[in-house]
Amino acid sequence: MPVDILIGAQWGDEGKGRFTDLLAADMAIVGRYSGGDNAGHTVTIGTEIFKLHLIPSGIIHEGVVCLIGGGTVVNPAVLLREMAGLAERGISVSPDRLKLSRKAHLITPAHIALDKAKEAARGESAIGTTLRGIGPAYTDKAARVGLRAGLLADPEGLAEAIFAHVEAHNQTLTQIYGVDPLDPTAVAADFASYAQQLAPHLVDEAVLLHEALAQGQPILAEGAQGTLLDLDHGTYPFVTSSHPTAAGALVGLGIGPRHVGRVIGVAKVFTSRVGSGPFPCELTGETAVRLRGTGENPWDEYGTTTGRPRRVGWLDLVVLHHAVRVNSLTELVLTKLDVLSGLEEIPVCVAYEMDGQTTTYLPPDQAQLSRCRPVYETLPGWAEDVTQARALAELPANARRYIEFISETLQTPVSYVSVGPARNQVVTVRNDL
Ligand code: GDP
Ligand code: IMO
Ligand code: MG
Repeated sequence: MPVDILIGAQWGDEGKGRFTDLLAADMAIVGRYSGGDNAGHTVTIGTEIFKLHLIPSGIIHEGVVCLIGGGTVVNPAVLLREMAGLAERGISVSPDRLKLSRKAHLITPAHIALDKAKEAARGESAIGTTLRGIGPAYTDKAARVGLRAGLLADPEGLAEAIFAHVEAHNQTLTQIYGVDPLDPTAVAADFASYAQQLAPHLVDEAVLLHEALAQGQPILAEGAQGTLLDLDHGTYPFVTSSHPTAAGALVGLGIGPRHVGRVIGVAKVFTSRVGSGPFPCELTGETAVRLRGTGENPWDEYGTTTGRPRRVGWLDLVVLHHAVRVNSLTELVLTKLDVLSGLEEIPVCVAYEMDGQTTTYLPPDQAQLSRCRPVYETLPGWAEDVTQARALAELPANARRYIEFISETLQTPVSYVSVGPARNQVVTVRNDL
């Protein structure tokens, strides 16, 4: 049985969590491979809404083992809070179900303080990070001074490492950014307590995953963020500090490319982005409010992690084409079709116009991207409510036409389309992939 990879094909918040939950029903292991609690993945089951930040969205299925993989950065305080929240709601997060790779890197209060100080210092050109310490934790990892989760099993080593880590970052915080230092003794004491609680969850992910592969067990790699937030393939520098793309799953879980089966790209039927950076299809005014919603529905476009209103725009097929290419997607999953019901016409961006030239490739430099103007093709909308549809034939003809147009332009099959946030609000377009 191969490893399937599910990734975000846009700028995050595509609906990865709800499709991870759906596919997890047939999986033995679901593993997060990158990012940290900058992610916010929503799973809706009946009237219950679960917002997951670090714990894989497979956790709701009792039989699934969930792994927080080596490519992630983990704030242990947040992880413990998330575990307690799930346990309170009757979801088991015991060590036999929830595993933390010894290779994952720890996020500390020093990383969070640095994230805040750096964003404040950037002023107008701030990235708009989630202020969760993600960038500084990955910076330490790349600089080879990071703290790995394996330390949680070594109380003495952990105390010593935390002490040195906080003292070193205090110098930057006070001398470069002029903010208050942290108390290394207090941070070390907190981490000693986290270590006691999390040590039983530590695993060597290579043993877990490669034994599972040898036994033919199905594994799903759950992406966080999205392709356009990838450190290399996204809209640099307005990106996150990890690799949400499919290749990130291989590095982040320690699996070779020959094990990969499906590569599933999740995309919303329009586009959203939180934080700064170029966004050629961005809309403002009434149409933006129409797509974003006002915040009264739980699915309206407000950040799951930060509560910030998301920037919104029409569907951008240049972005999706880029995602198809860099992830070698085997299929697309489309979400939020219901949100487009009632629109007379739906513009779709099929190319960019830049300096008098038309292109269907995403320009690599943000200076170029900010000069791009969308070229739209307008498709007819549909008036009908689609939330009860479960089969393609139950969708209005123009909704089917919209899906076909996306699939044909991108030369990529669409396997599912969701028509509401609930687990069963899914239209299966193809189940032969
Ligand atoms: P993720 O980060 O990719 O997992 O996505 P988020 O959970 O941050 O954001 C997606 C939001 O859209 C959540 O509130 C979901 O419950 C909601 N959602 C997902 N699919 C659909 C859908 O088909 N229709 C509607 N109305 N909401 C959806
Ligand atoms: P999920 O998994 C949407 C964005 C932030 C910011 C940039 C860098 O829910 O799709 P960071 O804190 O990572 O250094 O911020 O990346 N960002 C996300 N946007 N969804 C996410 O996760 C995101 N995670 C980070 O808004 O622009
Ligand atoms: Mg999200």
